[in-house]
Amino acid sequence: MNKLNAEQIRQPISDTPCSRLDYLEVFSEIESTNSYLLEKPAPLPGRFRVAIADHQTAGRGRMDRQWYSPPLSGLCMSMSYTFENAPKFLPAATLAIGVGVAELLEQLGIRGVGLKWPNDLIVRNGKLGGILTEVHSGDGPEMTVVVGIGINVDLGQSADTGGIKTRIGYASDLASCTDQLLSRSALSAALVETLFNTLAEFEKDGFERFFSAWERYDWLRGQRISVELPNRRPHGVCQGIDSDGALMLRTESGTERIMSGSIHLRGRQGDS
Ligand code: BTN
Repeated sequence: MNKLNAEQIRQPISDTPCSRLDYLEVFSEIESTNSYLLEKPAPLPGRFRVAIADHQTAGRGRMDRQWYSPPLSGLCMSMSYTFENAPKFLPAATLAIGVGVAELLEQLGIRGVGLKWPNDLIVRNGKLGGILTEVHSGDGPEMTVVVGIGINVDLGQSADTGGIKTRIGYASDLASCTDQLLSRSALSAALVETLFNTLAEFEKDGFERFFSAWERYDWLRGQRISVELPNRRPHGVCQGIDSDGALMLRTESGTERIMSGSIHLRGRQGDS
């Protein structure tokens, strides 16, 4: 696939996000776009900064996992954004972004998009991408977050042959879901717009709309799962999410609200 083109990414971004954008930088190679933005100064409230790379040499995922994407095969993008008032429960921001991105992918003609709580994008029962939200700084009411998103765009043969294994099973990509795939630059522009609009909407109106929309994409609801916590591993049936974004797990001893943890499907290949 072609290298990213900074002008083709900037040009289609509409007026409101454009007026709030401090910097948009495109790298051929970088360790990690999230790590890069975590080292840069925080934007002022309501403003944002973007870093996008053709290739990351040390891409990071949630829970200290690696995020590996072969050069030019995917989108590796991070946005730092400063909330005027820090959200009470930050994982809800990750869920809101998941919904925003799932809606964008549907608008682009990708069918069957699912969200695996709290941060995985799924298509065709494989991992299409993931979201990594990290706190940059947050003294007082303001809080700056760095939201990183990785999406497999075209993995070539490795998508078909299961060449890239994830903890969900195998990786999937956009190319195997559509024959009208946009360029990575056009996808990046759409994603910048979506991330900014989602964060701004979440800040203004809260999680409510995203909570209602989550159900539509919820890939875990009704599934038998276990949750990897530091000192125990509760299991049961996923009941969806609560209005603040916590995962609801029905166990033999009642319903538990899970605020963080790794989710494993019970009995599926690729899960332990
Ligand atoms: C996950 O699946 O756990 C999250 C993956 C997030 C990957 C993206 S790629 C852009 C940004 N930079 C990183 O190092 N990670 C995120």
